[in-house]
Amino acid sequence: MTAQLRGFGLLCFLLLVFPLRAQVTPARLSEDPRTGHAIDSIIASLTLEEKIGQLVQFTGEVNTPPAGPRTQDEQRALIRAGKIGSLLNVVGSAQTRELQRIAVEESRAKIPLLFGLDVIHGFRTTFPIPLAGAATWDPDAVEMSARISAAEAASAGVHWTFAPMVDIARDPRWGRIAEGSGEDTFLGSVMAAARVRGFQGTDLANPSSLMACAKHYAAYGAAEGGRDYNTVDISERTLRDVYLPPFRAAVEAGAGTLMASFNEIGGVPSNGNRHLLTEILRDEWKFDGFVVSDWNSVGELINHGFAASGAEAAGRAISAGMDMDMISGCFLENLPTLVRDGRVSTSTLDEAVRRVLRMKFRLGLFKDPYRSVSPDLEKKTVLTASSLESARDLARKAIVLLKNEGSVLPLRKDLRCIAVIGPLASNRRDPVGPWAGPTDTNNVVTVLEGVRSAVSPGTKVLFAGGCTINGTDTNGIAAAVSSARQADAVLLITGESEEMSGEAGSRASLDLPGRQEDLVRAVHATGKPVVLILMNGHPLTIAWEASHIPAILETWFLGLKAGSAIADVVFGDYNPSGKLPVTIPRTVGQIPLYYNHKNTGRPPDTADRFTSKYMDLPSTPLYPFGYGLSYTTYGYSGLAIRSARLGTTDTLQASVVVTNTGKRAGSEVVQLYVRDEAGSVTRPVRELKGFRTVRLDPGAAASVTISVPVSSLAFTTLDMKHEVEPGTFRVFIGPDSAHGLEGTFTVSGAAPQH
Ligand code: BGC
Repeated sequence: MTAQLRGFGLLCFLLLVFPLRAQVTPARLSEDPRTGHAIDSIIASLTLEEKIGQLVQFTGEVNTPPAGPRTQDEQRALIRAGKIGSLLNVVGSAQTRELQRIAVEESRAKIPLLFGLDVIHGFRTTFPIPLAGAATWDPDAVEMSARISAAEAASAGVHWTFAPMVDIARDPRWGRIAEGSGEDTFLGSVMAAARVRGFQGTDLANPSSLMACAKHYAAYGAAEGGRDYNTVDISERTLRDVYLPPFRAAVEAGAGTLMASFNEIGGVPSNGNRHLLTEILRDEWKFDGFVVSDWNSVGELINHGFAASGAEAAGRAISAGMDMDMISGCFLENLPTLVRDGRVSTSTLDEAVRRVLRMKFRLGLFKDPYRSVSPDLEKKTVLTASSLESARDLARKAIVLLKNEGSVLPLRKDLRCIAVIGPLASNRRDPVGPWAGPTDTNNVVTVLEGVRSAVSPGTKVLFAGGCTINGTDTNGIAAAVSSARQADAVLLITGESEEMSGEAGSRASLDLPGRQEDLVRAVHATGKPVVLILMNGHPLTIAWEASHIPAILETWFLGLKAGSAIADVVFGDYNPSGKLPVTIPRTVGQIPLYYNHKNTGRPPDTADRFTSKYMDLPSTPLYPFGYGLSYTTYGYSGLAIRSARLGTTDTLQASVVVTNTGKRAGSEVVQLYVRDEAGSVTRPVRELKGFRTVRLDPGAAASVTISVPVSSLAFTTLDMKHEVEPGTFRVFIGPDSAHGLEGTFTVSGAAPQH
């Protein structure tokens, strides 16, 4: 028996005697010492090549540049040789079982493979895109969507999702804004934790759980000009106060992995950034999972000019704290020599292998490498009636009512005739949005179908496409206008195609693409009541529409149940309650435009030319962060602060009375913002620190209390400490980031010395 086999025998013995239970709790994990021993004995049993194999990930599709197996036979040979630790994009219980069988039966070390996939907003049941999920301000519903997605994907043999994307996006031109929770650090952190909890459940070893991967670490959303993959140059303070907290929240919720981002920050690409991958992540946050690169991003260190060769790229990446190389092949090809030559230490290599094996243990793969998957289980788990109902529920909660002049909405179901117009009205492909995964778009409910099944039998529903999403042909506009003329009300469904946002989906213009604005203007000219329904991954600049069209619904990309959810809102079966997770600018010229900006020395003052503003536009957005209307109205009164003098370990308790002053029951997301009046460094004009949703019948009132631990007011001070500084704070409670009742409180403690 070789030493390696003896090692594996010992492991089997340990497992028999001490069956392992990989418990994941929302809090941080502490290592079971038996797992630690088992991992050590596996590492001791592996050859250098087998160790490196654990750090190598290729895609299931063979012959994909830049590296990796060119044929299926080559792929299987690499698995047999123990040179692949993980595969991405292999889907289906039969496919994953077969490759896993090769790994655990035909390879010498018998270490199970880890199957990863981008399960971003659903697997077969597609939920709204994450940006829309954030617009619900409902972390429980978002968590539920992640739980369902995890169960579906896990039943198809997937172990690990490359989600949640927790990048803060302050630039709406960046296409990947669609994949995250928008511009705000607090909302983004709440949603990050909710998605991690949903994917991972309470026990990662449960076969219905997926291991999460918080990505893209870090500051990927701060790409210059909003252009994907572009350079980032931000201060350490901004990095820590704005971009890192959602990652920290994901780590604290137990996320098993992080993905390093494509970008550099101030000259250092994330894949070789020891400060990010080791000092902050491991030393400060005590993260004990592993870091995977992004697609070929280790190899791209050469393009960055950070490495002169694949060997240098591999060396710099693993030494910085990168554990797994997604598809570049640089680890596979170069680490053997680098380790033999001593340019990468064995302890660095072993530590990376240990982290990967640790997560394989926590997933229960050493106990059951197949995690009980079967085609039968898969069939039973996907697209269940209750999952589809959850998808519809999340979708209607995500819809934001931007405008409703003259109460055009909701429409009566028994109107004589409704015209449903626009390139997205009967479209089945785009409502699922970017990164929809292996969904079947035949299952999408279109808006036209949603409307047809909601209206009374006597209502005539006309349809006209009008124009394409992004083309130049205006020939269909005349027919659309003629349909509008015959109707009592028009639903105009416009926006982007799904590939216009998401990865590499950055846009320099955020106007309605193609000739859609011509269509909107022509239909508006009929004088009929028009409801503009937007489908989009980027926030759109719709200044003309906002001043001319009486009713506007922001519906993002809502997934499989888009049409049903939109009909629920249009006809008043559901009273909209979504709130914007992003600022909507008037024009791209205002970008970057986000609510928690600094005051400057010369805040905008229209009466004073020499203040910070544009000559040709107001500095304010078209719609502020947190904004969203309802079919009812709410009054805010009686702001009260329980104790206005607090210490740094106390909790602020602020309350308001919210009254439903309209005629329908509804839910309102009550938002609390804080402004730190003065600090050792400048502070934002407002920062979201808490929110609560209250449901109210017409005429009803409720006192809503929001608690904010004073510790959450900490920031990176002048001397780079994470601290709360004593002083006076303003607090605002209201319906969005631009309004609200105002109060003050003070925090006492030792004043910083500067
Ligand atoms: C994306 C990642 C994704 C990976 C694997 C990359 O291009 O940036 O977000 O997880 O591909 O599909």
